[in-house]
Amino acid sequence: MHPFNNLLMEKERINHIALILDGNGRWAKEKGKSRTYGHKVGFDNIKKIALHASTLNLKALSLYCFSTENWLRPKEEVDFLMNIPISFEKDIEYYKSNNIKVIVSGRKDRIPINTLNALNHLINETKDSTGLILNICFDYGALDDIKNAINEIIKAGIKEVDENTIYSYLSSKDLPKVDILIRTGKEKRLSNYLLLESSYAELFFIDTYWPDFTEKDLDNIIEEYYTRERRYGGIK
Ligand code: IPE
Ligand code: IPE
Ligand code: MG
Repeated sequence: MHPFNNLLMEKERINHIALILDGNGRWAKEKGKSRTYGHKVGFDNIKKIALHASTLNLKALSLYCFSTENWLRPKEEVDFLMNIPISFEKDIEYYKSNNIKVIVSGRKDRIPINTLNALNHLINETKDSTGLILNICFDYGALDDIKNAINEIIKAGIKEVDENTIYSYLSSKDLPKVDILIRTGKEKRLSNYLLLESSYAELFFIDTYWPDFTEKDLDNIIEEYYTRERRYGGIK
C-alpha cells in the first residue's frame, strides 16, 4: 500500500507530533543570560511536555534537539549541548514510571562516549514501555538519514525501490508519519528535520521560545489541528 493511503485512513487520529525545539538562545539573551542557560532550561522543559504528550494517546513525539548542522556553533556551546543528554540519567525512573519508551535518531559516531552511554542506558531502561515513544533526535539531519537509507538499500542489493522501501530504511521506520510539525521560536523553516516523514504534516510555527512552551500551547495547537482539513492531494 502507498504510505499516504495509511494516512488517509487514519486522518482523524493524531499519531505523531514532531517538535523543533527552537529559541533557547534568544530566550536566554532576552533575559540577560547565557545561551547555555537557555539550553539548560530548554532541556528541562522536555520532561514536562513529554509527560503531557503521553496523556494524549499519541504513538510518538519526536524532538529535534541537535541538528547535523549545529556543529557549526562555537565549541563551548557545542560541548555544552553534547553533554546535556547525560542529565537524562537522573530521569530514567521518570520516563519508565510514565510508561514512555525513549528512542534516539541521528548519527552515533560524533557524540561523546559518555553521552552515547547515557542515551543507550535510557533507551535500554525504557525499552519495555508500551506508552508514548519519545524520539530524541540528536545529531540528526533528514538528509543524513536519507543518505544512510540509500546506502543501506544499495548494500542490501535492492535494485529498485518503491515508496515503502524508502520509508522502511529511515530511522523513523517504526513510527507513524508526522501529523503535526511544530516549530517554536519564530522562524519559519524546517532546518533539515523529518523531511520525508512530514510530507503531509500540518505545520505550526509559533513565536513562543521553547523554554516557555507549555502544555497549554500544545493543547491549543491540537485544537487548531482539528479545524484543519487534510486532503492528501484529494478533494473533500
Ligand atoms: C534550539 O535553540 C536548540 C538548538 C538548536 C540546539 P537555539 O540554540 O537555536 O536558539 P536560538 O534559535 O539561537 O534562539
Ligand atoms: C533547528 O534549529 C535545530 C534544532 C532545533 C535542534 P536551528 O536554530 O539550528 O536552525 P536554523 O539555523 O535557525 O535554521
Ligand atoms: Mg535556533
